[in-house]
Amino acid sequence: MSSPSSASRARAARPLLPMLLVILAAGATVGVLLLIDNINQRKIEAMQPFQLRVQVDETTVDPAVWGQNFPRQYDTYRLTAEMHPDRRDGDKARQKLDLYPVWRDLWAGYPFAVDYREARGHAYMLEDQRATLRVTEFAQPGACLHCHASVYTAYRQAGVEQGAPGAVTDPLDSPEGRAQLFAGFEHINPMPYHEATQLVNHPVSCIDCHDPRTLNLRITRPAFMTGIQELAKSDQALPHLPSIERWRQGSREEEYDANRHASHHEMRSLVCAQCHVEYYFKGPERRLVYPWHRGLKVEDMEAFYDEIGFTDWVHAKTGSPLLKAQHPEFELWSQGTHAQAGVSCADCHMPYRRVGAAKISDHQIRSPLLDLSRSCQVCHRVEDRELLARVEAIQDRTRALTRRAESAVMQLVLALQAAIAEDAPEAALNEARQLHRKAQWRLDFVFSENSLGFHAPQESARILGEAIDYARQGQVVLLQARTQVAVR
Ligand code: HEC
Ligand code: HEC
Ligand code: HEC
Ligand code: HEC
Ligand code: HEC
Repeated sequence: MSSPSSASRARAARPLLPMLLVILAAGATVGVLLLIDNINQRKIEAMQPFQLRVQVDETTVDPAVWGQNFPRQYDTYRLTAEMHPDRRDGDKARQKLDLYPVWRDLWAGYPFAVDYREARGHAYMLEDQRATLRVTEFAQPGACLHCHASVYTAYRQAGVEQGAPGAVTDPLDSPEGRAQLFAGFEHINPMPYHEATQLVNHPVSCIDCHDPRTLNLRITRPAFMTGIQELAKSDQALPHLPSIERWRQGSREEEYDANRHASHHEMRSLVCAQCHVEYYFKGPERRLVYPWHRGLKVEDMEAFYDEIGFTDWVHAKTGSPLLKAQHPEFELWSQGTHAQAGVSCADCHMPYRRVGAAKISDHQIRSPLLDLSRSCQVCHRVEDRELLARVEAIQDRTRALTRRAESAVMQLVLALQAAIAEDAPEAALNEARQLHRKAQWRLDFVFSENSLGFHAPQESARILGEAIDYARQGQVVLLQARTQVAVR
C-alpha cells in the first residue's frame, strides 16, 4: 500500500495509471472471488472471521439476532413459513386421517387416531405441537419439546437452576455445559407439557445447529447424543457413518461424540437426525430415548423394544400390545442408495442458493421436488420430467403397497375382533396379537416416514412386504384355531 503523499504524486504525474490499476485490481479481485466462490464458498465463510454486527452466545435464542450477522441465511430460514402448495387445507396442514380414514381404526385407542396431519415447515413446529388434539386432549410430557422448539438454552438454564455447575454462557463442549444440558433435559422431560412449553419461544433456531463461537455445525440434543453412543456400540455395519467405524477401531475409552468425532459432511445429516427419528419415552421420568441399541433397521428397533418389553399402547379393539412408529427419516435414509453414496440430508434439502453475488446453503428446508435443479440436478444431469418420473414411480409403488398393507392389517384387526367375540383359545389370540404387533409396526414405519419411500425404495418395499405377510400369518393362526374349535 502506498502512502497518501506518494499516491497523490503519482496521480498528478500519470493520471491514467491509477485508474488502470484500480480496474486491474478490481478485475483480479472479482476473478479471485469467483474462483473462491466456485471452489467452496462455505469453507471460506466458515474460516474467515465473519463480520459480526452483534455478538451471539449460548443464550442467543432469537434467530433475528443471528440474522443481523447472517441476513441471507436468515431470510431463507424465514421462508420455512411458506406452505407446500399441495398439502394445505386453508391455513392449516392437511388432516391425514381424512385422506386415509383406515388409520382411525388402525390406531384405535391411541391419540394419533384423533389428529394426524401433514408435516409442514420448521416455522410451524411449535405452534402445531401446541395446537394438536394430541396435546390439547391428552396429557403429554415436556419431552415433546425436544424436537419442536429451540429448547437448547432452556435446558441449560433449567440445568443451572437444578444446581448444575457453571454459567449458562459456558461453551457446550465444556464439562459444565454438558452437565447443564443433561440436568435440564432430565428436569423438563417429565414436566406437564403446558408448563414446559412456557419455557420456550421459538421453533428450531440457529443456536440449535450452530456453535455461536465458530458457526460450526453441532449437536445440541441430549437424546441424540445418547442414542448415537448406543448405536456406535452396536455391531451394525454403518459404512455411511465412517466416523463411527473409526471410533470402533479405536480404544473406545471415551464414548462416541458426534461433536468431536463426526466429519463436517456427516454433520450435514446428523444435525437433522437430532429430530427426524423414531423415539419413545422411558419410564415415569419420561426420558426421551432413541432405540438404536441394536441398529437402525426396522427389525433392530423392534428387537430392542421386545427385549425391554415396551409397548406404546394396547389396541382398543383387539387388545394387541402395539408400537407407534414416528418419522424414521434418518433410519430409512441410512438404508438407501443415497446414504451409501455419501449424499447427505442437506445436499437435497439445503442445496446451495445464489443470493446476489453470494452462494449460501438454503435454509428454506422443504420438499426437494419443489426445486429439482438445485436439489438433484447438480448430480443427476437429466431433464426435470425424467427425474420427476423416477421419483413418482418410487412413490406410486410405495403408495400402492402401503394401501395393500393397510387392508391386510385391517383384516387382521377384524379377524381378531371376531375371534375374541367367538371366545377363541387365548393362546391363538395372543399369537395373532404378536403378529399384529409386527405387522402394524412395519406398516406404520413406512407410513410415518415422510418421503413416501424415496429415501430407501427397496427397503420400504421390503418392510411393507413383511407387514403384509405378518398380517396374513395372523389371519391364518386365527383360521386354524377356528377350525380346531369347530372340529372339537
Ligand atoms: C424425536 C423428535 C420428536 C419428538 C420427541 C416429538 N416430535 Fe413431533 N415431530 C417430529 C418431527 C421430525 C415431525 C415432522 C415429521 C412428521 O410430521 O412426521 C413432527 C411432527 C409433529 C406434528 C405435526 C404432524 C402431526 O403429527 O400431526 C405434531 C402435531 C407433533 N409432531 C406433535 C408432537 C407431540 C405431541 C410430541 C410428544 C408426544 C412430539 N411431537 C414429540 C419430531 C418429534
Ligand atoms: C436444522 C439445522 C440448522 C439451522 C436451524 C440453521 N442452520 Fe445454518 N446451516 C445448517 C447447515 C446444514 C449448513 C451447511 C453447513 C456446511 O456444510 O458448511 C448451514 C450453514 C450456515 C452458514 C454457513 C454459510 C452457508 O450458507 O453455507 C451460515 C452463515 C448459517 N448456516 C447461518 C444460520 C443462521 C443465521 C441460522 C438461523 C437463522 C441458521 N443457520 C439455522 C444447518 C442449520
Ligand atoms: C429440532 C428438531 C428438528 C431439526 C433439528 C430438524 N427438523 Fe425438520 N422438522 C421438525 C419438525 C417438528 C417438523 C414438522 C413441523 C410441523 O409440521 O409443524 C419438521 C419438518 C421438516 C420438513 C417438512 C417441511 C415442509 O415444508 O413440509 C422437512 C423437509 C424437514 N423437516 C427436513 C429437515 C432437515 C433436512 C433437517 C436438517 C438440516 C431438519 N429437518 C432438522 C423438526 C426438526
Ligand atoms: C437424495 C436426496 C435426499 C436426501 C439425501 C434426503 N432426502 Fe428427504 N426427501 C427427498 C425427497 C425427494 C422427498 C420427497 C418429497 C416429496 O414427496 O415432495 C423427501 C422427503 C423428506 C421429508 C418430507 C418432506 C415433506 O415435504 O413432507 C422429510 C422430513 C425429509 N425428507 C427429511 C430428510 C432427512 C432428515 C434426511 C437425512 C437423514 C433426508 N431427508 C435425506 C430427498 C432427499
Ligand atoms: C450429491 C449427489 C446427489 C444428489 C444431490 C442427488 N442424488 Fe440421486 N443419486 C446419487 C447417486 C450417487 C446415486 C446412486 C448412483 C447409482 O448407483 O447409479 C443416486 C441414485 C438415485 C436414484 C436411483 C434410485 C435409488 O434410490 O436407488 C434416484 C431415483 C435418484 N438418485 C434421484 C434423485 C433425486 C430426485 C434427487 C433430488 C431430490 C437426487 N437424486 C439427488 C447422487 C445424488
